[in-house]
Amino acid sequence: MMRSFLSFLCLSMVSAQTVYLAGDSTMALGGGGSSTQGWGVPLSQFLTIPVVNDAVAGESARSYSTEGRFTSLIASVKSGDFVIIEFGHNDATAGAVDNGKQDAVGDGYNITSTVTAANGTQILIHSFAFYIENAVNSIKAKGGIPIISSVTPDNIWTGTTIAPAGRFQTYAHSIGVDTSITYVDHFSYVAQAYNKLGQTAVTAFYPIDHLHTSAAGALVVSEAFVRGLLCGTSTLKNFVNAAGKAVPNGCL
Ligand SMILES: *[C@@H]1O[C@H](CO)[C@@H](O)[C@H](O)[C@H]1NC(C)=O
Ligand SMILES: *[C@@H]1O[C@H](CO)[C@@H](O)[C@H](O)[C@H]1NC(C)=O
Repeated sequence: MMRSFLSFLCLSMVSAQTVYLAGDSTMALGGGGSSTQGWGVPLSQFLTIPVVNDAVAGESARSYSTEGRFTSLIASVKSGDFVIIEFGHNDATAGAVDNGKQDAVGDGYNITSTVTAANGTQILIHSFAFYIENAVNSIKAKGGIPIISSVTPDNIWTGTTIAPAGRFQTYAHSIGVDTSITYVDHFSYVAQAYNKLGQTAVTAFYPIDHLHTSAAGALVVSEAFVRGLLCGTSTLKNFVNAAGKAVPNGCL
C-alpha cells in the first residue's frame, strides 16, 4: 500500500500536467510589439501547473497549421496536458492576393475555397473549424485536453459597451458545442470586464492600436479567461490557485 502510494507520488511528480497555449499576438509573449503584452503571459499567475506559451504574433488557425506549429506543439503534449486554442484576429479574408492566413469563410468543417497566391498559383484553403478541429483531434489522440477559447475583443465601442463580436466568436462557439471539448467564451468575459471598467479606462490598455494590450490590459484579459474557465466545466478549473479564484466578475 505504502509502496504503491510512493510510486504514485513519484509518478505524479515527474508527470505534472502542463498548459500549452496556441494563439496570436493577443496571447503571445511580447504581444504585438513595443509596450504591449499578450494575455497568455500573466495566466501562469492564476494556475498551479506550468504554462508553455506557444502563441506567435501574426498567426491564424490556418497559418499555425500550415507552418507546422500545431504539429510541433502537439508533439510535446503528454496525456493529461491542456491546450488552450484561441485564434481569429488574423483569420479574416485578405485582398486579391492570398496572405497565407485567411480561412475559407463559413461555419463548419467541410468548407473550402480557392485563393490566388502571389505567384499566381491557385491554393485550396479550408475553414477555421477545419484547422482547429484537426488540431483538436490530434491533441485528443495524445490524451491531451483541448480548450477552445473565443477571440478577444478589440477596443471598439458601440455607445457604452464593447462592439459585438464578429464571426470568429461564432465559429469558436460552434466547435465548442461538441461536449467533449471545453469552450470558454473569452470574448464575452473580456467584454464584461471592459464594460464595467468603461471606455476611458480600457482605452488606456491600448498603447499602439485597438488590438494589442499593455501588460495591465493583458492582466485584465487573463483574469477574464480565468473567470470564464471557473464558470465552465473544464477540469483545468482544478488547477486554478487562490489568486485565480479571486479574479473579478461573475458567470455569464
Ligand atoms: C466532411 O466531408 C467528408 C467527406 O464527404 C465526410 O466524410 C465527413 O463526415 C464530413 N465531416 C463533417 C464534420 O461534416
Ligand atoms: C507559389 O506559392 C505557393 C504559396 O506560397 C507555394 O505553395 C507554391 O509552391 C508556389 N509555386 C511556385 C511554382 O513557386
